[in-house]
Amino acid sequence: MFNLDQFIESCKGKPASAVKELLAEAMRDPAGVKQALETVAQGKDIAGAKVGDMVYFRSPTLTILKAAVPPKFKTPPHNHNMWAVIGVCDGQENNTFYRRSGKTLEKAGGKDLKTGDTVVLGEDAVHAIENPSDRPMLAIHVYGGDFLDTSNRSVWNPFTFEEHPYDFKLIMDYARQIMAQ
Ligand SMILES: [Fe+2]
Repeated sequence: MFNLDQFIESCKGKPASAVKELLAEAMRDPAGVKQALETVAQGKDIAGAKVGDMVYFRSPTLTILKAAVPPKFKTPPHNHNMWAVIGVCDGQENNTFYRRSGKTLEKAGGKDLKTGDTVVLGEDAVHAIENPSDRPMLAIHVYGGDFLDTSNRSVWNPFTFEEHPYDFKLIMDYARQIMAQ
């Protein structure tokens, strides 16, 4: 049975490749991970995080959180400026990847994640995500830095690919615009 406290301890000081191995092992039982996340989530929100995110651990070099993405939700392209390891506990998360091209972005493939899948995003990754299903998507996210410190991060206009400083309100505005299409 997945133990969240043990998982947090074993992620400390590890590179993305080692965290990916730990998470892939845990995700052999995605329902067990989901259950552990939801049990702990009932009493704990150390960072006042937004949009269904519950932060279990936060330090300058490691953040571990639960991400809940509503049905049909889409984000604009954005970056994290730190590596990320993602494991889908329940549902589907489609990723579109981008690369910088001058002052704009070009598409660089994608990856559709389903229950039990894990993926590593490199430090310079730019991605947009979408939950295509009519059920919420629940994932565990591990970041190699302080995810809640959003300085030095960017969000891109999903229509023009113009880059802007990260702004949560702007992300939600763009999300509404893409979903209204
Ligand atoms: Fe992201």
